[in-house]
Amino acid sequence: MSAVRKDGEDLLAFVKKFANPETVAVEEDLGHGYVRLRVTEAERRQALQDIRSVEDVVKELVRNARDAGADHIYVSFQKERGRWRNLHVLDNGRGIPRELHQKIFEARVTSKVDDVVEDYFGVHGRGMALFSIKRVVEEIRLVESAVGRGTIIHARIDTHRLPEKKDQSTFPRLEESEEEGLVVAGGPHNVPRVLSEFALDTEGIEIYLGSNSEILSTLYHHSTDLRKRWAAGGEEAGRPLWFELGGIKEGKSLHRFATENLGLAVSERNAFRILEFEIPPLMSINELLGKSGGEKCARRSDLHHQPKPFWGDQLARRLSTQDLRTLGDRLRDVFGEIGDRCWLTAESPVIKRRKDRLIISLKLHEKEED
Ligand SMILES: Nc1ncnc2c1ncn2[C@@H]1O[C@H](COP(=O)(O)OP(=O)(O)OP(=O)(O)O)[C@@H](O)[C@H]1O
Ligand SMILES: [Mg+2]
Repeated sequence: MSAVRKDGEDLLAFVKKFANPETVAVEEDLGHGYVRLRVTEAERRQALQDIRSVEDVVKELVRNARDAGADHIYVSFQKERGRWRNLHVLDNGRGIPRELHQKIFEARVTSKVDDVVEDYFGVHGRGMALFSIKRVVEEIRLVESAVGRGTIIHARIDTHRLPEKKDQSTFPRLEESEEEGLVVAGGPHNVPRVLSEFALDTEGIEIYLGSNSEILSTLYHHSTDLRKRWAAGGEEAGRPLWFELGGIKEGKSLHRFATENLGLAVSERNAFRILEFEIPPLMSINELLGKSGGEKCARRSDLHHQPKPFWGDQLARRLSTQDLRTLGDRLRDVFGEIGDRCWLTAESPVIKRRKDRLIISLKLHEKEED
C-alpha cells in the first residue's frame, strides 16, 4: 500500500488506512476544532449511566460552561407544578459556532480532543454529556450561543423520571482546611451543593442560582454595569448575550427580550418589578460561601441581596410604593386648597421614581361651576 495521500483524499480516511483502529480516537473532523470521537460501545454505555439525577444534569452543564472559559455562570432553577424542573444555564464563555449548534447533542462530539479535562468531579471530555442528558430529560435545547458571547442551554426535566434531592434550599456545611481553604464537609447532595463545589474548586468564576426572575434581574444589573464600562471606553471583556438588557426601559420589552432572546419565561409584571428594583439582583454563591465561612449552613434565601447597597445613585428607589401613595394623597389635599383659589382642579398625581428624583405630574382642569 502506498503511503502517499492522493489529491483530494480526506485526511482522516488517509490516516485510518495505516493506523491501528484501536488507537485512532478521532472518527470525524467537524471543523472549528470539533471532532467526533471513536469510542467503544462499552464506554458509551458507561457514559449513559452517568446522568442519574437533576444534580448530574446541572453538574455537566455548568462544567461545560466552565470549560468554555466563562467567568460568570447563571443557573435558573424553577419547579413547575411540583414535578417539572426547568433549568437554564447561561454563561459568558467562548460560545459555539453556528454550524455546531445541533451537532453538540450527538454522541462523541467534543472540542476537547487535545486536552482531556480533569476537575473536582473527575476526568471528562468524551463528548457524551449532552447526548446522555438528551436521552433522559423531556427537552434540552440550545437557546442561543454565539462565538465570543456565551451560551444559553435550557433543559426541562420530569422529576418522576430523573429525580432530584427534596431539599434544594440548604447550602452544604463547609470546613476550613489548612491546604485547600474552605471545603464542602456535608449536607444534602443537592444543586446548591454541586454549585458550591464548583465555586470553591475554581478560581475566578462567579456562580449565581435563582428563579427566572431573579436571574433576569441579576443579568439586567450586570448588563447595566457592563454597558457603563463600555461607554467609558475601558471595557475589554466581550458583550455577552444579555448585553442589550441594560438598555431596556420598559417592562414589556424586558419581558419580550427575556422570553425571545434568553429563553427565560418571566411575566410582564415581574419584568416591571425588576425595572422598579422590587426584585433585586442576587449575590453570587462565591460571595455567600465566603461570607458564611462555614459557620452555619447558608440557605438559598440568603442569596437575596439587601437591596440598599445596590441602589447606588438610585435614591428614589428607597421610597416604597406606599410612600409614594402617602405623598400623592397629601399633594392632592394641598392642591385642593390652592386649586380653589386659582379656579383649577387636578387629577390624582402620577409620581415616577427616576434615579435621584421624583417626577410628579398633575393634570389640571378648569374648575367647573358648582
Ligand atoms: N456552555 C458551552 N460553551 C461552549 N461550548 C460548549 C458548551 N456546552 C457544550 N459545548 C461544546 O459541546 C461539546 C459537547 O459537550 P458535552 O458535554 O456533550 O461533551 P464534552 O464536554 O466534550 O465531554 P463530556 O462528555 O465529558 O462532558 C463540548 O466539547 C463543547 O465544545
Ligand atoms: Mg461536557
